[in-house]
Amino acid sequence: MKKYNVAVVGATGLVGSTFLKVLKEYDFPIKNLTLFASERSAGKAVEYDGKEYIVQKLEEGCFDGIEIALFSAGGSVSEKWAPEAEKSGAVVIDNSSAWRMVKECALIVPEINLDAFDNARKIVANPNCSTIQSVLPLKPLNDKFGLKRVVYSTYQAVSGSGQKGKNDLIRTLKGEEPEFYPYNISQTCIPHIDVFTDNGYTKEEIKMVNETRKILNMPDLKVSATCVRVPVLNAHAVSIMVELDKPFTLEEVREAFASQPGIIVVDDPANLKYPVSTIANGNDGVYVGRIRRDLSCDNGILFYAVSDNIRKGAAANAVQIAEALIKADKI
Ligand SMILES: NC(=O)c1ccc[n+]([C@@H]2O[C@H](COP(=O)([O-])OP(=O)(O)OC[C@H]3O[C@@H](n4cnc5c(N)ncnc54)[C@H](OP(=O)(O)O)[C@@H]3O)[C@@H](O)[C@H]2O)c1
Repeated sequence: MKKYNVAVVGATGLVGSTFLKVLKEYDFPIKNLTLFASERSAGKAVEYDGKEYIVQKLEEGCFDGIEIALFSAGGSVSEKWAPEAEKSGAVVIDNSSAWRMVKECALIVPEINLDAFDNARKIVANPNCSTIQSVLPLKPLNDKFGLKRVVYSTYQAVSGSGQKGKNDLIRTLKGEEPEFYPYNISQTCIPHIDVFTDNGYTKEEIKMVNETRKILNMPDLKVSATCVRVPVLNAHAVSIMVELDKPFTLEEVREAFASQPGIIVVDDPANLKYPVSTIANGNDGVYVGRIRRDLSCDNGILFYAVSDNIRKGAAANAVQIAEALIKADKI
């Protein structure tokens, strides 16, 4: 099997270190591995598969010979350096929001739209974490019944803010003052993720709307979102209301979810079986449960989806994109 020269940009971060874990777990075909982070970490040793790698800083020519570059170092780093990696001939898979809505770049959840890569630039965008776990269950519903309207309400873990978010929860749980979130996250949910825009929505909410439309290739789909930070260390949850075009039975919906690769149905409330955050911690499933009819409209369905935002919501989805492109002979 062919092996590849792989770079991880942001290798010392929460997503970057999970990239390394997932690459190892997936036995990814690596020939040479190069790790990048900021100047602060340059020279630091990071372990991968029993060997030590020295973290480097980004500089001109640093992507020469790299074939696959996994980026998770924030939007401004991606804006500047992803085109450099692309110019050097690498396929870039970027975790920031910098390239997601660029028309020439594909925004991919591999179980849904890998073919979006075909006529796109070689910078592939990885969607927002909450979007990935939401569009996966929407796909089989759309295929079978047609989507008319979608309303998201999220319950997002502090790990979604990176190490600073986790530290703020741990610090405030010990009675110390918050340093990162505007309120004490150990004592409250905060209905505010990313900055507010002129229409009253936050950027995180607008990302969910726009990215859902792009991934499903449904530019006119009616979508709305409310995004909330909750005092949970890891794994996001999303409550999803969908108005469908066609009538359905709950059994048909359960079957549609169960037959979608990537989804695990956990829906037996009588025995206290439904998706809780801890079920998703450390693995790549999107867990779907609490499946029931919406009482407020015809053909409405409600359900709840939970996933590890650092894995399927970021690092694992990106590695799965790379794996799928290799398998399809596109890299
Ligand atoms: N956390 C999530 O759930 C999640 C989900 C999806 C996408 N993302 C995206 O992934 C990216 C990273 O998130 P994270 O949670 O891993 O953040 P993080 O823990 O704060 O890590 C940031 C990483 O970027 C590196 N970095 C910062 N400035 C840099 C620069 N100028 N040049 C090179 N490297 C630089 C840092 O290196 P140093 O250690 O040297 O500072 C570190 O390795 C963000 O774009 C975020 O939006 C995060």
